[in-house]
Amino acid sequence: MQKRITKAVFPVAGMGTRFLPATKASPKEMLPVVDKPLIQYAVEEALEAGITELIFITGRNKRSIEDHFDKAYELETELELRNKQKLLDTVQGILPRSASCIYIRQTEALGLGHAVLCARPVVGREPFAVILADDLIDGAPGAMQQMVDVFAESQSSILGVEHVAPQETGSYGIVQVTPHAQWQQVTSIVEKPKPEEAPSTLAVVGRYILTANIFDKLQHVLPGAGGEIQLTDGIAALLREETVLAHPFHGQRYDCGSKLGYLKATVDYALKHPEVAADFSAWLASQARGTN
Ligand code: UTP
Repeated sequence: MQKRITKAVFPVAGMGTRFLPATKASPKEMLPVVDKPLIQYAVEEALEAGITELIFITGRNKRSIEDHFDKAYELETELELRNKQKLLDTVQGILPRSASCIYIRQTEALGLGHAVLCARPVVGREPFAVILADDLIDGAPGAMQQMVDVFAESQSSILGVEHVAPQETGSYGIVQVTPHAQWQQVTSIVEKPKPEEAPSTLAVVGRYILTANIFDKLQHVLPGAGGEIQLTDGIAALLREETVLAHPFHGQRYDCGSKLGYLKATVDYALKHPEVAADFSAWLASQARGTN
């Protein structure tokens, strides 16, 4: 029987050290790009792909994420009283009624692989998506929709990939692929290789579709680089037993886990935002001319 992807796991329990002090008391996934937190962009991408069960793996600062996707009675009443219908619609439209949220606590930040493993009791035996909100992808259709389309035909695990500069391989899981008629099959994956040891420059970014067999593999993964349980190691074990594909998604990715990537996303999204695009663009142009 053809399987469908209805569940997405959002690991949001990382320390976010590159964004301290901003991430001291709130997760980096709550950082806004213009007026929406990163996690909301990620959730919207999942909803667009037909996913209805949203599973958040949270850490010590989970409150703000739960509150963001929950009903805000006081705020909504206040906006209603003040006749702020547009803002009320914005707040009430964050999550459709058809979607449900589940929160699981990762008590210690033991790595991305461990965070994904925490979702096992809720995911069960179904294939599922993993979305890292700090990789913001501007795509139409969204990157996850593209991957769900590939899954509909392949019924196999899929990794979202893109080429990175050779000197950047040390920041990513890097894959080696064999092209087939329709797809690229992953033949090996290695975590954060030095440029001279990297099998390619094809990097895994924060989008995955995984079969439930990944849980058995993660269960046996020993702590690797930095004492963390790496998702990459689980995937390396998985692809020895079943097909794992690489999907070079169409779209622009911003690494919002880094300050530079986050600033680039902010500028590009502001230049497309209906409320501020014109004024912001004019201001940027005047800055470039040195007239402001
Ligand atoms: P990162 O590798 O970006 O780590 O995690 P980090 O701790 O969030 O950030 P830095 O490097 O200290 O600045 C990638 C994704 O995996 C999640 C993070 O929340 C992020 O979405 N993660 C990581 C967890 O949920 N749990 C973990 O134990 C580690």
